Order: sequence, then C-alpha cells, then structure tokens
Amino acid sequence: MRLGIEGRGLVVLPGFLSRDEAARLELATTCRSFERTYGSIESAKFDVSNLEPGDELHDFFQSELLVSTVRAALSLPESAPLQRLWGWISRYKVGEYLPAHKDPGGSANLLISLHHPPPENGGTLLVEDESGQHPVILETGDAVLFLATKLMHSSQVLVPTRGRPEPLKLVAVGRYYF
Ligand SMILES: [Fe+2]
Repeated sequence: MRLGIEGRGLVVLPGFLSRDEAARLELATTCRSFERTYGSIESAKFDVSNLEPGDELHDFFQSELLVSTVRAALSLPESAPLQRLWGWISRYKVGEYLPAHKDPGGSANLLISLHHPPPENGGTLLVEDESGQHPVILETGDAVLFLATKLMHSSQVLVPTRGRPEPLKLVAVGRYYF
C-alpha cells in the first residue's frame, strides 16, 4: 500500500471515522480527566488527557490494522516492530491553539478529528514546508497521518462567532515510534 506520505509528509484520510463514531468517542471523553498543558515554550495552554492501555482509543491506535497502515505509509518492512505508541486527546477552547513546532520524536503521528468546529471558528491545522504554510482542512471524523518531526505544525486560534460563542475542538493523537 502506498499512501504517499513521502512526498508532502502527510496524508489526509477523509471520513476516517463516521460522524456517529466520532460523536460517540467525543462523548466518552467527557468523563476523562484533562490536565492543562503548555503547547510549547510559548504560553499557549490547552487541555490534554493521556491515553492508557485499555482505553478504547489507545487500543484502536495500537490495533494491527492501524499499526500496519502507518508502517506501510512509512514504507517500512512488515517486520519492523512498533517500539512505542503514545496516545493522547487534546481539547481546545476559545483563545486556545497549538503553537508552531516540530515534534521531538516519533516516526509519525496519526491525528483523528473527534470534533471540529466550522471553519469560521478557526482551529484549522497548519503545516509548513519549503513552499510555505498550508491549511489541512479536517472535519469531524477525518484524520491525518503526518511526519511530525519533519513538518512544522500548528493550529489557528479558536474564535467565538455569534452562532457559536463557545466552539470546542477535540483531537486524538497517536504518536508511533518504529
Ligand atoms: Fe506536535
């Protein structure tokens, strides 16, 4: 399988989860505990909840289907063992964002959009390569697999609108180490 991650460093997977499945997983996060964390050395804060073995999303990230998909996207041999998986859920509210950074480690990140507000509320993922900054448009249920150590990435600030004064963005991330 060739997913084409080599060229741009990312591959968008539209409709990775159905809307219903994303809504169910979003609902399941409401009983999780989140901690405030710094996105980087900037004073940008948002909520993060680490996924542990036994958590549905953790086990989903670690399922053979997803591990082999990531392995294939990275053009690794089937024999390449997964060394480590680190999964978490990030939650952004009004005024919150992910500052631009490259990840310090990992082979690739699989980011699943569990809840994305309409574009006018911001929150859009941005990646930067030699040709500039590009928006990665993700709707609820979409996913993106990307080389987070190579691509500078960030997200737009969440902003209130008249129709949606308290937008929320929720993503689940699995960082794979091969
Ligand atoms: Fe990152």
